[in-house]
Amino acid sequence: MQSNQPANFDRDIHAEDYAGEYRSVRIDHESLLCDSGRDYESLDGQWRFAIDPYNTLLRARWFAEVHDDGHGNPRPADYDWEHWKEMRVPSCWNTAAPEYRHYEGGVIYTRTFRYKPRDTTVGSPERVFLKIGAANYETVLFLNRTCLGTHRGGSTPFFVEITDSLSQDNRLILFVNNRRESDQVPMDNTDWFNYGGLYRSVSLVRLPATFIKRWSISLVRGSGFGKLHFALETDGPQEVGKARLRIPGLDLERELAFTGGFGELEINARPDLWSPETPTLYEVEVALEGGDRVSDKVGFREIRSSGERILLNGKPIYLRGISCHEDSTRNGKAVTSAEIEQMFDLAKELGCNFVRLAHYPHSELAARLADERGVLLWEEIPVYWAIEFDNPGTYADAENQLSELVLRDLNRASVVLWSVGNENPDTDARLDFMSRLARRARELDPTRLVTAACLWNRIENRIADRLAEHLDVIGLNEYYGWYEGNFDDLAAFFRNSNPGKPVIVSEFGAGALAGTHGTVDDLFSEEHQRQVYEKQIAVIRESRYVAGLTPWILIDFRSPRRLNDYQRGYNRKGLVDADRTRRKLAFRTLRDFYSSLT
Ligand code: GCU
Repeated sequence: MQSNQPANFDRDIHAEDYAGEYRSVRIDHESLLCDSGRDYESLDGQWRFAIDPYNTLLRARWFAEVHDDGHGNPRPADYDWEHWKEMRVPSCWNTAAPEYRHYEGGVIYTRTFRYKPRDTTVGSPERVFLKIGAANYETVLFLNRTCLGTHRGGSTPFFVEITDSLSQDNRLILFVNNRRESDQVPMDNTDWFNYGGLYRSVSLVRLPATFIKRWSISLVRGSGFGKLHFALETDGPQEVGKARLRIPGLDLERELAFTGGFGELEINARPDLWSPETPTLYEVEVALEGGDRVSDKVGFREIRSSGERILLNGKPIYLRGISCHEDSTRNGKAVTSAEIEQMFDLAKELGCNFVRLAHYPHSELAARLADERGVLLWEEIPVYWAIEFDNPGTYADAENQLSELVLRDLNRASVVLWSVGNENPDTDARLDFMSRLARRARELDPTRLVTAACLWNRIENRIADRLAEHLDVIGLNEYYGWYEGNFDDLAAFFRNSNPGKPVIVSEFGAGALAGTHGTVDDLFSEEHQRQVYEKQIAVIRESRYVAGLTPWILIDFRSPRRLNDYQRGYNRKGLVDADRTRRKLAFRTLRDFYSSLT
Protein backbone atom coordinates (compact mmCIF):
# COMPACT_ATOMS: atom_id res chain seq x y z
CA MET A 1 0.00 0.00 0.00
CA GLN A 2 1.37 3.45 -0.85
CA SER A 3 2.15 5.70 2.15
CA ASN A 4 -0.20 8.44 0.94
CA GLN A 5 -3.26 6.21 0.99
CA PRO A 6 -5.78 6.16 3.84
CA ALA A 7 -5.72 3.26 6.25
CA ASN A 8 -9.04 1.99 4.90
CA PHE A 9 -7.87 2.06 1.29
CA ASP A 10 -9.10 -0.95 -0.69
CA ARG A 11 -7.53 -1.13 -4.12
CA ASP A 12 -10.34 -3.24 -5.60
CA ILE A 13 -12.88 -0.50 -5.03
CA HIS A 14 -10.84 2.71 -4.62
CA ALA A 15 -8.10 2.47 -7.29
CA GLU A 16 -8.95 4.91 -10.09
CA ASP A 17 -5.48 5.00 -11.70
CA TYR A 18 -5.56 1.28 -12.46
CA ALA A 19 -5.29 1.64 -16.27
CA GLY A 20 -1.82 3.15 -16.12
CA GLU A 21 -0.38 -0.01 -14.59
CA TYR A 22 -1.29 -2.02 -17.69
CA ARG A 23 -0.40 0.61 -20.29
CA SER A 24 3.19 0.85 -19.07
CA VAL A 25 4.07 -2.15 -21.29
CA ARG A 26 3.15 -1.14 -24.85
CA ILE A 27 2.82 -3.79 -27.53
CA ASP A 28 3.33 -1.93 -30.82
CA HIS A 29 4.70 -2.20 -34.37
CA GLU A 30 8.14 -3.15 -33.01
CA SER A 31 6.56 -6.47 -32.06
CA LEU A 32 5.52 -7.23 -35.63
CA LEU A 33 6.98 -10.41 -37.15
CA CYS A 34 6.88 -11.51 -40.75
CA ASP A 35 4.77 -14.59 -40.43
CA SER A 36 4.14 -15.80 -43.95
CA GLY A 37 5.09 -19.41 -44.50
CA ARG A 38 5.39 -20.20 -40.81
CA ASP A 39 3.72 -23.04 -38.89
CA TYR A 40 1.00 -21.89 -36.56
CA GLU A 41 -0.83 -23.46 -33.66
CA SER A 42 -4.31 -22.01 -33.76
CA LEU A 43 -5.99 -20.81 -30.58
CA ASP A 44 -9.20 -20.12 -32.49
CA GLY A 45 -12.41 -21.75 -31.34
CA GLN A 46 -14.68 -21.43 -28.30
CA TRP A 47 -13.28 -19.20 -25.57
CA ARG A 48 -14.97 -18.33 -22.27
CA PHE A 49 -16.44 -14.84 -22.37
CA ALA A 50 -18.08 -12.22 -20.15
CA ILE A 51 -18.81 -8.55 -20.62
CA ASP A 52 -17.07 -6.43 -17.99
CA PRO A 53 -18.52 -2.91 -18.31
CA TYR A 54 -16.80 -1.69 -15.12
CA ASN A 55 -13.37 -3.08 -16.11
CA THR A 56 -13.43 -5.08 -12.88
CA LEU A 57 -10.87 -7.57 -14.16
CA LEU A 58 -8.37 -4.70 -14.25
CA ARG A 59 -9.55 -2.87 -11.12
CA ALA A 60 -9.72 -5.98 -8.89
CA ARG A 61 -6.86 -7.80 -10.66
CA TRP A 62 -8.93 -10.92 -11.30
CA PHE A 63 -6.16 -12.16 -13.62
CA ALA A 64 -3.93 -12.70 -10.52
CA GLU A 65 -6.49 -15.21 -9.20
CA VAL A 66 -5.77 -14.33 -5.54
CA HIS A 67 -8.44 -16.11 -3.50
CA ASP A 68 -7.45 -15.26 0.06
CA ASP A 69 -7.53 -12.15 2.22
CA GLY A 70 -3.77 -12.00 2.56
CA HIS A 71 -3.88 -13.78 5.90
CA GLY A 72 -4.54 -17.25 4.54
CA ASN A 73 -8.31 -16.94 4.84
CA PRO A 74 -10.33 -17.74 1.75
CA ARG A 75 -11.85 -14.75 -0.03
CA PRO A 76 -14.86 -15.17 -2.34
CA ALA A 77 -14.17 -14.70 -6.06
CA ASP A 78 -16.64 -12.82 -8.30
CA TYR A 79 -15.59 -14.77 -11.39
CA ASP A 80 -15.19 -18.39 -12.39
CA TRP A 81 -13.82 -18.49 -15.88
CA GLU A 82 -14.98 -21.95 -16.91
CA HIS A 83 -18.65 -21.37 -16.01
CA TRP A 84 -19.04 -18.34 -18.26
CA LYS A 85 -20.70 -18.39 -21.66
CA GLU A 86 -18.65 -19.29 -24.72
CA MET A 87 -17.67 -16.96 -27.57
CA ARG A 88 -16.16 -18.04 -30.87
CA VAL A 89 -12.78 -16.57 -31.77
CA PRO A 90 -12.49 -14.96 -34.26
CA SER A 91 -15.81 -13.12 -34.19
CA CYS A 92 -17.41 -9.81 -33.29
CA TRP A 93 -19.46 -10.13 -30.13
CA ASN A 94 -22.07 -7.80 -31.67
CA THR A 95 -23.16 -10.43 -34.20
CA ALA A 96 -22.76 -13.38 -31.81
CA ALA A 97 -25.88 -12.84 -29.70
CA PRO A 98 -28.70 -10.23 -29.50
CA GLU A 99 -27.74 -9.19 -25.97
CA TYR A 100 -24.31 -8.11 -27.24
CA ARG A 101 -25.56 -6.29 -30.36
CA HIS A 102 -24.87 -2.73 -29.18
CA TYR A 103 -22.51 -3.44 -26.29
CA GLU A 104 -19.51 -1.11 -26.15
CA GLY A 105 -17.00 -1.52 -23.36
CA GLY A 106 -14.67 -4.06 -21.76
CA VAL A 107 -15.02 -7.79 -22.24
CA ILE A 108 -13.02 -10.73 -20.92
CA TYR A 109 -11.95 -13.55 -23.23
CA THR A 110 -10.19 -16.51 -21.62
CA ARG A 111 -9.10 -20.03 -22.45
CA THR A 112 -6.52 -22.57 -21.38
CA PHE A 113 -4.03 -24.36 -23.60
CA ARG A 114 -1.32 -26.94 -23.15
CA TYR A 115 2.26 -26.29 -24.18
CA LYS A 116 4.96 -28.91 -24.75
CA PRO A 117 8.38 -27.64 -25.83
CA ARG A 118 9.51 -29.04 -29.17
CA ASP A 119 12.88 -30.76 -29.39
CA THR A 120 15.24 -28.19 -30.80
CA THR A 121 18.91 -28.24 -31.68
CA VAL A 122 21.05 -28.33 -28.55
CA GLY A 123 21.66 -24.98 -26.87
CA SER A 124 18.97 -23.04 -28.67
CA PRO A 125 15.66 -23.37 -26.80
CA GLU A 126 12.67 -22.40 -28.90
CA ARG A 127 10.92 -19.07 -28.48
CA VAL A 128 7.14 -18.83 -28.51
CA PHE A 129 5.09 -15.85 -29.67
CA LEU A 130 1.37 -15.15 -29.43
CA LYS A 131 -0.22 -13.50 -32.48
CA ILE A 132 -3.50 -11.57 -32.37
CA GLY A 133 -4.73 -10.94 -35.92
CA ALA A 134 -6.75 -7.94 -34.75
CA ALA A 135 -8.81 -6.90 -31.73
CA ASN A 136 -10.95 -3.77 -31.52
CA TYR A 137 -9.88 -1.51 -29.83
CA GLU A 138 -7.58 -1.81 -26.80
CA THR A 139 -6.33 -5.22 -25.61
CA VAL A 140 -4.64 -6.04 -22.29
CA LEU A 141 -3.03 -9.48 -22.36
CA PHE A 142 -2.48 -11.80 -19.37
CA LEU A 143 -0.84 -15.22 -19.30
CA ASN A 144 -0.62 -17.33 -16.14
CA ARG A 145 -1.44 -14.40 -13.83
CA THR A 146 1.13 -12.10 -15.52
CA CYS A 147 0.34 -8.98 -17.52
CA LEU A 148 2.06 -9.16 -20.92
CA GLY A 149 1.17 -5.62 -21.96
CA THR A 150 -1.39 -3.52 -23.84
CA HIS A 151 -2.04 -2.97 -27.55
CA ARG A 152 -4.06 -0.06 -28.95
CA GLY A 153 -5.54 0.02 -32.43
CA GLY A 154 -8.43 -1.98 -33.74
CA SER A 155 -7.39 -3.24 -37.19
CA THR A 156 -3.79 -4.44 -37.22
CA PRO A 157 -1.98 -7.56 -35.98
CA PHE A 158 0.31 -7.66 -32.98
CA PHE A 159 2.65 -10.20 -31.43
CA VAL A 160 4.00 -10.75 -27.93
CA GLU A 161 6.74 -13.14 -26.81
CA ILE A 162 5.48 -15.53 -24.14
CA THR A 163 8.48 -17.88 -23.91
CA ASP A 164 9.25 -17.07 -20.28
CA SER A 165 5.61 -17.02 -19.13
CA LEU A 166 4.68 -20.50 -20.38
CA SER A 167 4.05 -23.62 -18.35
CA GLN A 168 2.58 -26.98 -19.35
CA ASP A 169 -0.98 -25.81 -18.59
CA ASN A 170 -1.66 -22.18 -19.37
CA ARG A 171 -4.45 -19.69 -18.72
CA LEU A 172 -4.66 -16.92 -21.34
CA ILE A 173 -6.85 -13.87 -20.66
CA LEU A 174 -7.43 -11.06 -23.14
CA PHE A 175 -9.29 -7.99 -21.90
CA VAL A 176 -10.67 -6.20 -24.99
CA ASN A 177 -12.31 -2.78 -24.78
CA ASN A 178 -14.00 -1.25 -27.84
CA ARG A 179 -15.37 1.87 -26.11
CA ARG A 180 -15.14 4.84 -28.48
CA GLU A 181 -13.03 7.70 -27.08
CA SER A 182 -12.40 11.17 -28.51
CA ASP A 183 -8.60 10.75 -28.22
CA GLN A 184 -8.48 7.43 -30.11
CA VAL A 185 -7.96 6.62 -33.82
CA PRO A 186 -10.75 6.63 -34.96
CA MET A 187 -12.35 8.98 -32.48
CA ASP A 188 -15.84 8.52 -31.07
CA ASN A 189 -17.76 9.72 -34.14
CA THR A 190 -17.66 7.71 -37.37
CA ASP A 191 -20.04 6.61 -40.10
CA TRP A 192 -19.65 2.91 -39.50
CA PHE A 193 -20.61 0.39 -36.80
CA ASN A 194 -18.27 0.02 -33.84
CA TYR A 195 -17.86 -3.76 -33.77
CA GLY A 196 -15.85 -5.23 -30.91
CA GLY A 197 -13.92 -8.39 -30.29
CA LEU A 198 -11.08 -10.71 -31.15
CA TYR A 199 -12.24 -10.65 -34.74
CA ARG A 200 -9.19 -12.08 -36.52
CA SER A 201 -7.36 -15.30 -35.60
CA VAL A 202 -5.30 -15.89 -32.45
CA SER A 203 -2.38 -18.30 -32.69
CA LEU A 204 1.02 -19.38 -31.34
CA VAL A 205 4.17 -19.46 -33.42
CA ARG A 206 7.37 -21.19 -32.36
CA LEU A 207 10.69 -19.71 -33.49
CA PRO A 208 14.36 -20.53 -32.98
CA ALA A 209 16.47 -18.41 -30.67
CA THR A 210 17.53 -16.26 -33.64
CA PHE A 211 14.86 -15.85 -36.33
CA ILE A 212 13.89 -13.74 -39.32
CA LYS A 213 11.83 -10.93 -37.84
CA ARG A 214 11.06 -9.03 -41.06
CA TRP A 215 12.10 -9.04 -44.65
CA SER A 216 11.08 -7.18 -47.79
CA ILE A 217 11.79 -7.43 -51.47
CA SER A 218 10.74 -5.08 -54.25
CA LEU A 219 11.74 -3.59 -57.57
CA VAL A 220 14.07 -0.60 -57.22
CA ARG A 221 12.18 2.45 -58.53
CA GLY A 222 13.81 3.88 -61.64
CA SER A 223 15.96 0.80 -62.23
CA GLY A 224 14.22 0.02 -65.49
CA PHE A 225 12.52 -2.93 -63.78
CA GLY A 226 15.90 -4.64 -63.67
CA LYS A 227 16.95 -4.44 -60.05
CA LEU A 228 15.54 -5.88 -56.80
CA HIS A 229 16.16 -4.58 -53.29
CA PHE A 230 16.08 -7.18 -50.51
CA ALA A 231 16.27 -6.30 -46.82
CA LEU A 232 16.30 -8.54 -43.77
CA GLU A 233 16.00 -8.01 -40.02
CA THR A 234 16.69 -10.73 -37.47
CA ASP A 235 15.86 -11.06 -33.78
CA GLY A 236 17.95 -13.05 -31.35
CA PRO A 237 21.43 -13.48 -29.89
CA GLN A 238 23.12 -14.21 -33.23
CA GLU A 239 23.48 -10.68 -34.60
CA VAL A 240 26.04 -11.60 -37.22
CA GLY A 241 25.53 -14.32 -39.78
CA LYS A 242 24.47 -15.31 -43.26
CA ALA A 243 21.10 -15.59 -44.93
CA ARG A 244 20.10 -17.17 -48.21
CA LEU A 245 17.54 -15.75 -50.62
CA ARG A 246 15.98 -18.03 -53.27
CA ILE A 247 13.55 -17.14 -56.03
CA PRO A 248 13.29 -20.40 -58.04
CA GLY A 249 11.08 -18.77 -60.69
CA LEU A 250 13.98 -16.43 -61.53
CA ASP A 251 16.57 -19.14 -61.07
CA LEU A 252 18.03 -16.77 -58.48
CA GLU A 253 19.92 -17.65 -55.30
CA ARG A 254 21.96 -15.17 -53.30
CA GLU A 255 23.72 -15.14 -49.96
CA LEU A 256 23.86 -12.04 -47.82
CA ALA A 257 25.66 -11.27 -44.61
CA PHE A 258 23.82 -9.57 -41.78
CA THR A 259 25.39 -7.66 -38.92
CA GLY A 260 23.67 -6.12 -35.94
CA GLY A 261 20.58 -8.02 -37.01
CA PHE A 262 20.29 -6.18 -40.38
CA GLY A 263 21.28 -7.01 -43.93
CA GLU A 264 20.32 -5.77 -47.40
CA LEU A 265 21.19 -6.53 -50.98
CA GLU A 266 20.57 -5.19 -54.49
CA ILE A 267 20.22 -7.84 -57.16
CA ASN A 268 20.06 -7.57 -60.93
CA ALA A 269 16.96 -9.44 -62.05
CA ARG A 270 14.24 -8.99 -64.62
CA PRO A 271 11.05 -10.58 -63.25
CA ASP A 272 7.79 -10.74 -65.19
CA LEU A 273 5.99 -7.69 -63.90
CA TRP A 274 2.88 -7.94 -61.74
CA SER A 275 -0.19 -6.09 -63.02
CA PRO A 276 -3.98 -6.46 -62.94
CA GLU A 277 -3.75 -8.10 -66.36
CA THR A 278 -0.84 -10.38 -65.40
CA PRO A 279 -0.75 -10.86 -61.59
CA THR A 280 2.45 -12.90 -61.65
CA LEU A 281 3.65 -14.03 -58.21
CA TYR A 282 7.02 -15.60 -57.43
CA GLU A 283 7.77 -17.98 -54.56
CA VAL A 284 10.43 -16.24 -52.44
CA GLU A 285 12.34 -18.22 -49.78
CA VAL A 286 14.53 -16.70 -47.08
CA ALA A 287 16.63 -18.85 -44.74
CA LEU A 288 19.18 -18.21 -42.01
CA GLU A 289 22.25 -20.38 -41.65
CA GLY A 290 20.97 -21.25 -38.20
CA GLY A 291 17.85 -22.81 -39.66
CA ASP A 292 14.98 -20.34 -39.56
CA ARG A 293 13.17 -20.26 -42.89
CA VAL A 294 10.22 -18.27 -44.23
CA SER A 295 8.57 -17.97 -47.63
CA ASP A 296 5.99 -15.85 -49.39
CA LYS A 297 4.47 -15.28 -52.83
CA VAL A 298 5.56 -11.87 -54.09
CA GLY A 299 4.66 -9.84 -57.19
CA PHE A 300 7.12 -7.34 -58.64
CA ARG A 301 5.80 -4.04 -60.01
CA GLU A 302 6.64 -0.36 -59.90
CA ILE A 303 4.16 2.36 -58.95
CA ARG A 304 4.93 6.06 -59.20
CA SER A 305 3.36 9.35 -60.20
CA SER A 306 4.47 11.63 -62.99
CA GLY A 307 2.77 14.99 -63.49
CA GLU A 308 -0.95 14.31 -63.28
CA ARG A 309 -0.55 10.61 -64.09
CA ILE A 310 -0.14 7.44 -62.06
CA LEU A 311 2.29 5.04 -63.74
CA LEU A 312 2.19 1.29 -63.17
CA ASN A 313 5.32 -0.34 -64.55
CA GLY A 314 6.07 2.87 -66.43
CA LYS A 315 2.70 3.13 -68.17
CA PRO A 316 -0.18 5.51 -67.27
CA ILE A 317 -3.02 3.62 -65.59
CA TYR A 318 -6.60 4.77 -64.95
CA LEU A 319 -7.80 3.32 -61.66
CA ARG A 320 -11.28 1.87 -62.20
CA GLY A 321 -12.15 1.49 -58.56
CA ILE A 322 -14.78 1.15 -55.88
CA SER A 323 -14.72 1.77 -52.11
CA CYS A 324 -15.36 -1.02 -49.61
CA HIS A 325 -15.92 -1.30 -45.86
CA GLU A 326 -15.03 -4.46 -43.96
CA ASP A 327 -18.57 -5.42 -42.94
CA SER A 328 -21.04 -8.25 -43.48
CA THR A 329 -24.54 -8.61 -42.07
CA ARG A 330 -23.68 -12.06 -40.70
CA ASN A 331 -20.14 -11.51 -39.33
CA GLY A 332 -19.65 -7.76 -38.94
CA LYS A 333 -15.92 -6.99 -39.25
CA ALA A 334 -15.00 -10.66 -38.85
CA VAL A 335 -15.52 -11.21 -42.55
CA THR A 336 -14.73 -14.69 -43.81
CA SER A 337 -12.38 -15.48 -46.68
CA ALA A 338 -15.49 -16.32 -48.76
CA GLU A 339 -16.93 -12.86 -48.02
CA ILE A 340 -13.67 -11.18 -49.01
CA GLU A 341 -13.62 -13.26 -52.22
CA GLN A 342 -17.24 -12.19 -52.85
CA MET A 343 -16.26 -8.53 -52.46
CA PHE A 344 -13.56 -8.95 -55.11
CA ASP A 345 -15.97 -10.92 -57.33
CA LEU A 346 -18.39 -7.99 -57.28
CA ALA A 347 -15.56 -5.50 -57.91
CA LYS A 348 -14.36 -7.58 -60.85
CA GLU A 349 -17.95 -7.78 -62.17
CA LEU A 350 -17.97 -3.98 -62.16
CA GLY A 351 -14.78 -4.06 -64.25
CA CYS A 352 -12.58 -2.75 -61.41
CA ASN A 353 -8.79 -2.95 -61.38
CA PHE A 354 -8.68 -1.04 -58.07
CA VAL A 355 -10.36 -1.15 -54.62
CA ARG A 356 -10.21 1.37 -51.78
CA LEU A 357 -10.19 -0.58 -48.51
CA ALA A 358 -11.79 2.12 -46.34
CA HIS A 359 -11.39 3.46 -43.62
CA TYR A 360 -9.03 1.21 -41.65
CA PRO A 361 -6.70 -1.76 -42.36
CA HIS A 362 -8.76 -4.66 -43.65
CA SER A 363 -7.81 -8.33 -43.09
CA GLU A 364 -4.32 -9.21 -44.36
CA LEU A 365 -6.10 -11.86 -46.41
CA ALA A 366 -7.65 -9.10 -48.55
CA ALA A 367 -4.22 -7.96 -49.80
CA ARG A 368 -3.14 -11.55 -50.42
CA LEU A 369 -6.26 -12.25 -52.47
CA ALA A 370 -5.79 -8.98 -54.34
CA ASP A 371 -2.21 -10.08 -55.17
CA GLU A 372 -3.59 -13.29 -56.66
CA ARG A 373 -6.52 -11.67 -58.49
CA GLY A 374 -4.72 -8.62 -59.87
CA VAL A 375 -6.56 -5.89 -57.94
CA LEU A 376 -4.67 -2.71 -56.97
CA LEU A 377 -5.38 -1.51 -53.44
CA TRP A 378 -5.66 1.75 -51.49
CA GLU A 379 -5.12 0.91 -47.81
CA GLU A 380 -5.95 3.40 -45.05
CA ILE A 381 -5.64 4.11 -41.34
CA PRO A 382 -8.71 5.45 -39.51
CA VAL A 383 -7.54 9.06 -39.07
CA TYR A 384 -11.13 9.92 -39.73
CA TRP A 385 -12.93 13.29 -39.40
CA ALA A 386 -12.23 15.23 -36.18
CA ILE A 387 -9.28 13.39 -34.62
CA GLU A 388 -7.55 15.07 -31.65
CA PHE A 389 -4.78 16.41 -33.88
CA ASP A 390 -3.12 18.36 -31.06
CA ASN A 391 -2.83 15.29 -28.79
CA PRO A 392 0.64 13.66 -28.83
CA GLY A 393 -0.83 10.37 -27.56
CA THR A 394 -3.30 10.35 -30.43
CA TYR A 395 -0.48 10.95 -32.92
CA ALA A 396 1.52 8.06 -31.41
CA ASP A 397 -1.53 5.82 -31.78
CA ALA A 398 -2.07 6.85 -35.42
CA GLU A 399 1.60 6.48 -36.31
CA ASN A 400 1.73 3.05 -34.70
CA GLN A 401 -1.31 1.85 -36.63
CA LEU A 402 0.25 3.16 -39.85
CA SER A 403 3.52 1.41 -39.03
CA GLU A 404 1.75 -1.87 -38.27
CA LEU A 405 -0.19 -1.66 -41.54
CA VAL A 406 2.85 -0.82 -43.69
CA LEU A 407 5.07 -3.47 -42.09
CA ARG A 408 2.29 -6.06 -42.38
CA ASP A 409 1.73 -5.53 -46.12
CA LEU A 410 5.21 -4.47 -47.26
CA ASN A 411 5.49 -7.43 -49.66
CA ARG A 412 2.00 -7.13 -51.16
CA ALA A 413 2.22 -6.07 -54.83
CA SER A 414 -1.50 -5.15 -54.87
CA VAL A 415 -1.03 -2.37 -52.30
CA VAL A 416 -0.03 0.79 -54.16
CA LEU A 417 -1.36 3.61 -51.98
CA TRP A 418 -1.10 4.31 -48.25
CA SER A 419 -3.84 6.68 -47.12
CA VAL A 420 -3.15 8.64 -43.95
CA GLY A 421 -6.74 9.64 -43.37
CA ASN A 422 -10.17 10.75 -44.48
CA GLU A 423 -12.13 14.01 -44.56
CA ASN A 424 -10.23 15.93 -41.92
CA PRO A 425 -10.66 19.65 -41.26
CA ASP A 426 -7.81 21.71 -42.78
CA THR A 427 -6.40 23.11 -39.52
CA ASP A 428 -2.76 23.77 -38.62
CA ALA A 429 -2.75 20.90 -36.09
CA ARG A 430 -4.15 18.49 -38.68
CA LEU A 431 -1.60 19.63 -41.27
CA ASP A 432 1.24 18.92 -38.87
CA PHE A 433 -0.25 15.59 -37.73
CA MET A 434 -0.97 14.21 -41.19
CA SER A 435 2.13 15.53 -42.95
CA ARG A 436 4.14 13.71 -40.28
CA LEU A 437 2.18 10.55 -41.03
CA ALA A 438 2.94 10.99 -44.74
CA ARG A 439 6.64 11.28 -43.94
CA ARG A 440 6.44 8.19 -41.73
CA ALA A 441 4.82 6.18 -44.52
CA ARG A 442 7.63 7.12 -46.94
CA GLU A 443 10.28 6.44 -44.31
CA LEU A 444 8.95 2.90 -43.84
CA ASP A 445 8.22 2.34 -47.52
CA PRO A 446 9.67 4.52 -50.31
CA THR A 447 8.21 2.22 -52.99
CA ARG A 448 4.53 3.24 -52.80
CA LEU A 449 2.42 6.41 -53.12
CA VAL A 450 0.95 8.36 -50.22
CA THR A 451 -2.54 9.81 -50.31
CA ALA A 452 -5.47 10.89 -48.14
CA ALA A 453 -9.16 11.43 -48.86
CA CYS A 454 -9.59 15.20 -48.70
CA LEU A 455 -12.60 17.49 -48.78
CA TRP A 456 -12.80 20.44 -51.14
CA ASN A 457 -12.76 24.14 -50.42
CA ARG A 458 -16.47 24.88 -50.33
CA ILE A 459 -16.01 28.64 -50.38
CA GLU A 460 -13.80 28.72 -53.47
CA ASN A 461 -15.37 25.55 -54.94
CA ARG A 462 -12.02 23.97 -55.76
CA ILE A 463 -9.34 21.63 -54.44
CA ALA A 464 -7.34 23.72 -51.97
CA ASP A 465 -6.35 21.44 -49.09
CA ARG A 466 -2.96 22.37 -47.58
CA LEU A 467 -2.19 18.67 -47.00
CA ALA A 468 -2.11 18.12 -50.80
CA GLU A 469 1.50 19.28 -51.11
CA HIS A 470 2.54 16.41 -48.79
CA LEU A 471 0.71 13.79 -50.86
CA ASP A 472 1.71 12.00 -54.06
CA VAL A 473 -1.94 11.55 -55.02
CA ILE A 474 -4.85 13.68 -53.80
CA GLY A 475 -7.93 11.76 -52.73
CA LEU A 476 -11.06 13.84 -53.24
CA ASN A 477 -14.41 13.16 -51.55
CA GLU A 478 -17.19 15.19 -53.21
CA TYR A 479 -20.92 14.59 -53.03
CA TYR A 480 -22.37 16.78 -55.74
CA GLY A 481 -25.86 15.46 -56.38
CA TRP A 482 -26.31 14.21 -52.81
CA TYR A 483 -25.02 16.47 -50.02
CA GLU A 484 -24.35 19.29 -52.50
CA GLY A 485 -27.61 19.83 -54.35
CA ASN A 486 -26.37 22.00 -57.20
CA PHE A 487 -24.83 19.63 -59.70
CA ASP A 488 -23.83 22.48 -62.01
CA ASP A 489 -21.09 23.44 -59.56
CA LEU A 490 -19.37 20.08 -60.15
CA ALA A 491 -18.08 20.95 -63.61
CA ALA A 492 -17.06 24.39 -62.31
CA PHE A 493 -15.29 22.70 -59.41
CA PHE A 494 -13.09 20.64 -61.73
CA ARG A 495 -12.42 23.69 -63.94
CA ASN A 496 -11.49 25.81 -60.91
CA SER A 497 -9.02 23.22 -59.60
CA ASN A 498 -5.45 22.85 -60.76
CA PRO A 499 -3.89 20.28 -58.42
CA GLY A 500 -0.68 19.68 -60.43
CA LYS A 501 -0.69 16.00 -59.39
CA PRO A 502 -2.95 12.99 -59.86
CA VAL A 503 -6.39 13.05 -58.20
CA ILE A 504 -8.48 10.03 -57.32
CA VAL A 505 -12.14 10.83 -56.72
CA SER A 506 -12.19 8.71 -53.58
CA GLU A 507 -15.87 9.25 -52.87
CA PHE A 508 -19.03 10.31 -54.60
CA GLY A 509 -22.40 8.58 -54.35
CA ALA A 510 -26.00 8.60 -53.25
CA GLY A 511 -28.21 6.48 -51.06
CA ALA A 512 -30.79 4.05 -52.48
CA LEU A 513 -32.76 1.29 -50.80
CA ALA A 514 -32.56 -1.75 -53.08
CA GLY A 515 -35.94 -2.34 -54.67
CA THR A 516 -37.16 1.24 -54.11
CA HIS A 517 -38.11 2.78 -57.43
CA GLY A 518 -39.40 6.19 -58.45
CA THR A 519 -38.39 9.20 -60.47
CA VAL A 520 -34.86 10.56 -60.70
CA ASP A 521 -35.95 13.17 -58.18
CA ASP A 522 -37.06 10.68 -55.55
CA LEU A 523 -34.31 10.48 -52.91
CA PHE A 524 -33.31 6.91 -51.97
CA SER A 525 -34.77 5.53 -55.18
CA GLU A 526 -32.50 3.46 -57.39
CA GLU A 527 -33.32 5.82 -60.26
CA HIS A 528 -32.05 8.82 -58.29
CA GLN A 529 -28.83 7.01 -57.35
CA ARG A 530 -28.33 6.03 -61.00
CA GLN A 531 -28.75 9.63 -62.15
CA VAL A 532 -26.12 10.81 -59.64
CA TYR A 533 -23.70 8.24 -61.08
CA GLU A 534 -24.53 9.27 -64.65
CA LYS A 535 -23.98 12.95 -63.93
CA GLN A 536 -20.83 12.41 -61.85
CA ILE A 537 -19.25 10.15 -64.48
CA ALA A 538 -20.09 12.59 -67.29
CA VAL A 539 -17.96 15.25 -65.56
CA ILE A 540 -15.24 13.10 -63.99
CA ARG A 541 -14.40 11.31 -67.23
CA GLU A 542 -13.54 14.66 -68.85
CA SER A 543 -11.07 15.73 -66.17
CA ARG A 544 -7.44 15.97 -67.25
CA TYR A 545 -6.01 15.28 -63.77
CA VAL A 546 -8.35 12.56 -62.45
CA ALA A 547 -6.36 9.31 -62.54
CA GLY A 548 -9.08 7.15 -61.05
CA LEU A 549 -12.17 6.90 -58.89
CA THR A 550 -13.52 4.79 -56.05
CA PRO A 551 -17.23 5.70 -55.76
CA TRP A 552 -18.85 5.30 -52.36
CA ILE A 553 -19.54 2.35 -51.98
CA LEU A 554 -19.78 -1.26 -53.18
CA ILE A 555 -22.05 -2.72 -50.47
CA ASP A 556 -24.51 -1.17 -47.99
CA PHE A 557 -23.02 -1.23 -44.49
CA ARG A 558 -24.12 -0.80 -40.88
CA SER A 559 -23.97 2.70 -39.42
CA PRO A 560 -25.78 3.87 -36.27
CA ARG A 561 -25.95 7.36 -37.79
CA ARG A 562 -28.38 6.27 -40.52
CA LEU A 563 -31.84 6.17 -39.01
CA ASN A 564 -34.50 7.10 -41.58
CA ASP A 565 -37.03 4.68 -43.02
CA TYR A 566 -34.83 3.79 -45.99
CA GLN A 567 -31.73 3.30 -43.86
CA ARG A 568 -32.77 1.67 -40.53
CA GLY A 569 -29.20 1.53 -39.26
CA TYR A 570 -27.55 1.07 -42.64
CA ASN A 571 -25.74 3.44 -44.96
CA ARG A 572 -27.51 2.78 -48.27
CA LYS A 573 -24.95 4.21 -50.72
CA GLY A 574 -23.94 0.71 -51.79
CA LEU A 575 -24.31 -0.42 -55.39
CA VAL A 576 -25.27 -3.77 -53.85
CA ASP A 577 -27.56 -4.33 -50.88
CA ALA A 578 -26.18 -5.40 -47.48
CA ASP A 579 -27.09 -9.05 -48.08
CA ARG A 580 -25.03 -8.87 -51.28
CA THR A 581 -27.91 -10.37 -53.28
CA ARG A 582 -29.34 -7.39 -55.17
CA ARG A 583 -27.46 -5.06 -57.52
CA LYS A 584 -29.00 -1.59 -57.80
CA LEU A 585 -29.47 0.19 -61.15
CA ALA A 586 -26.34 2.31 -60.65
CA PHE A 587 -24.22 -0.88 -60.55
CA ARG A 588 -24.68 -1.23 -64.30
CA THR A 589 -24.02 2.50 -64.87
CA LEU A 590 -20.56 2.21 -63.30
CA ARG A 591 -19.91 -1.12 -65.00
CA ASP A 592 -20.77 0.34 -68.40
CA PHE A 593 -18.43 3.27 -67.78
CA TYR A 594 -15.55 1.00 -66.83
CA SER A 595 -16.12 -1.32 -69.76
CA SER A 596 -16.03 1.73 -72.04
CA LEU A 597 -12.50 2.42 -70.80
CA THR A 598 -11.04 -1.01 -71.57
C1 GCU B 1 -18.10 10.52 -46.08
C2 GCU B 1 -17.25 9.49 -45.36
C3 GCU B 1 -17.83 8.11 -45.41
C4 GCU B 1 -19.33 8.19 -45.23
C5 GCU B 1 -19.87 8.89 -46.46
C6 GCU B 1 -21.40 9.06 -46.38
O1 GCU B 1 -17.50 10.95 -47.21
O2 GCU B 1 -15.92 9.44 -45.85
O3 GCU B 1 -17.23 7.35 -44.37
O4 GCU B 1 -19.90 6.90 -45.08
O5 GCU B 1 -19.36 10.20 -46.56
O6 GCU B 1 -21.83 10.13 -45.97
O7 GCU B 1 -22.08 8.10 -46.73
